[in-house]
Amino acid sequence: MSQRKILVTSALPYANGPLHMGHLVEYIQTDIWVRFQKQFGNTCTYVCADDAHGTAISLHAEKQGITPEESVALINKERVRDFGEFMVEFDNYHSTHSPENQTLSEAIYLKLKEKGHIASRSITQAYDPEKEMFLADRYIKGECPKCGTDDQYGDNCEKCGATYSPADLKNARSTISGATPIEKDSEHFFFKLSDFGDFLQEWTRSGTISDEIANKLAEWLDAGLQDWDISRDAPYFGFEIPGEPGKFFYVWLDAPIGYMAAFENLCQKRDDLNFDEYWKKDSDCEVHHFIGKDIVNFHCLFWPAMLKGADYRTPTAVNVHGYLTVNGEKMSKSRGTFITARTWLDHLDPEYLRYYYAAKLSNRIDDLDLNTDDLVQRVNSDLVGKVVNIASRNAGFIKKRFGGKLSSNNMVEELTADFQQAGDRIAALYENREFSKAMREIMALADKANAWIDEVKPWVVAKEEGKDQELHDICSAGINLFRLLMIYLKPVLPGMAAKAEAFLKIEPLSWADSQTVLLDHEVAKFKPLMTRVESDKVAAMIEASKEVLAQMAEQKPAEAASLASNEWLEKEPVAEEIKFDDFAKVDLRIAKIVNAEHVEGAGKLLRLTLDIGEAETRNIFAGIKSAYAPEALIGKHTVMVANLAPRKMKFGVSEGMVLAAGPGGSDLWILEPHEGAQPGMRVM
Ligand code: 2FM
Ligand code: ZN
Repeated sequence: MSQRKILVTSALPYANGPLHMGHLVEYIQTDIWVRFQKQFGNTCTYVCADDAHGTAISLHAEKQGITPEESVALINKERVRDFGEFMVEFDNYHSTHSPENQTLSEAIYLKLKEKGHIASRSITQAYDPEKEMFLADRYIKGECPKCGTDDQYGDNCEKCGATYSPADLKNARSTISGATPIEKDSEHFFFKLSDFGDFLQEWTRSGTISDEIANKLAEWLDAGLQDWDISRDAPYFGFEIPGEPGKFFYVWLDAPIGYMAAFENLCQKRDDLNFDEYWKKDSDCEVHHFIGKDIVNFHCLFWPAMLKGADYRTPTAVNVHGYLTVNGEKMSKSRGTFITARTWLDHLDPEYLRYYYAAKLSNRIDDLDLNTDDLVQRVNSDLVGKVVNIASRNAGFIKKRFGGKLSSNNMVEELTADFQQAGDRIAALYENREFSKAMREIMALADKANAWIDEVKPWVVAKEEGKDQELHDICSAGINLFRLLMIYLKPVLPGMAAKAEAFLKIEPLSWADSQTVLLDHEVAKFKPLMTRVESDKVAAMIEASKEVLAQMAEQKPAEAASLASNEWLEKEPVAEEIKFDDFAKVDLRIAKIVNAEHVEGAGKLLRLTLDIGEAETRNIFAGIKSAYAPEALIGKHTVMVANLAPRKMKFGVSEGMVLAAGPGGSDLWILEPHEGAQPGMRVM
């Protein structure tokens, strides 16, 4: 068998929020595939990077009062840690905001331009006159032109379903500054995708993508390809377009080039990898991308066309997965099913999730449901009940009765052959990303092993006189069958496989090792390889997910993650110096707490009713439940920010903010002014 050279990528995650269960479907899927390739003996390289550019990233940084570079660096730190603990093992994790990516992006753009694939023309767009920037549709809100519902995004109404252009919104405002957008012209640069129509017709049907996806793409291809706008005006966090001051590459132009840049960066560190060998036009190496179904157009139209136009090789395969639901529904913060990687790791073993995802993943784009009851049941029954059990049932006797040494005789040659022949089938299933089928094959083997052990009953044989050899052979056979199962499970359960290798005192298991058995071989003392999933820990994780996220307003899913990440940064906000005029804008007032109560479903919030003088009351939600019983607050005077824009939260609208100090938890104190200060007085 000749060795393949394979470069693998997962989609580059935006650097504006924590990793969550949805992301992990893809990284775990890719990691399993990569681990399988490596174990099988192929040269496989897995790269990824932070997707660092664009407006969402710079706004996220701005909210924290830090630069985009600082924000990206902070998020990168958490991310690398989370990936590591989930055993997602990249050969390189880079960033799109890197010199390699800038060099490659410029070169690809210039090549496309030289070959006549770039056009430019002026377009009219919404512009925020206060913030002095152009606004994408999602940063514009207003009243629906059809039904009048307020607070609707720039492209469609959530209430009546109408679709429109942002210019049609009534009383439109920028969600960034609150200003009324104006229309403004500016020159943009376009990639002429239509130059690649014939190429894409062929490429999408050349086995690179499933028929399921190719059919979807055919709808776009047949309708005719539009030019793609690849530029954005300053201010924009990205790379300036060569020769076009004030114009930047749109984040989606340099993001996929980030795959190449991450690899190039690795090539600089490793002598055995050569960039051109993998990326030149007629390369024999393979390039496989793993992505979610929401970004198919970028990866299966724009990206191959860009590569083709710039004289690079095109991808060998684009593997597309569906979305994640948790307990049958879209991830929801109120139900505690918006589970971050970190919350999972705080409560549960990452390998539970790796196995569960493997047991549910196929090579189709069907959505995948993380059902927590099902997870408990499957992991306990399959991994603990079937696989680990085989080892634990036999290991004790080997240690106690036979000095830790396996017998020199294999008494189950037929069963062993059966297990060994399954190796090719299971390998083919991994190769084709049919992980759920692979897990079923493996568990069927585990069932056979357990059925055989039940039949020969080592625990009975152990009590019989003169049956030492039989007991030794049975237990050794059991351990060997367990070893074969671990070879097949290793791509999914690298942690458990490492423990099994330590127990068996062997070198890391390769795929080819399935054709051998351990005879006359010493093993170590058996230590538990995996413990049962406890339902109360799952419940605690769900509770913790509610706690962490309950305070946040319901956002569109893509933004929820970015908001949530504020919670994870665990750092002091960096206080930027402000002008006196900025400070003077803050309307600080004395308020009297006339009522305080618990908020159902909110882990950290109390609802306060504040008297701020002149018969005006305000409803606000304050995250001080950990420090105060509501009764203790009623009647107190405090300080509030009175001119904070109302914030729509899950439990209602919060009309301001009270000031409190302290490290958190029960050590949190609202500011209490001297009693001479009366409601409504301005704080200066
Ligand atoms: O959709 C996303 O989350 C993007 N950050 C994926 C980018 S993939 C690649 F093209 F960089
Ligand atoms: Zn409407």
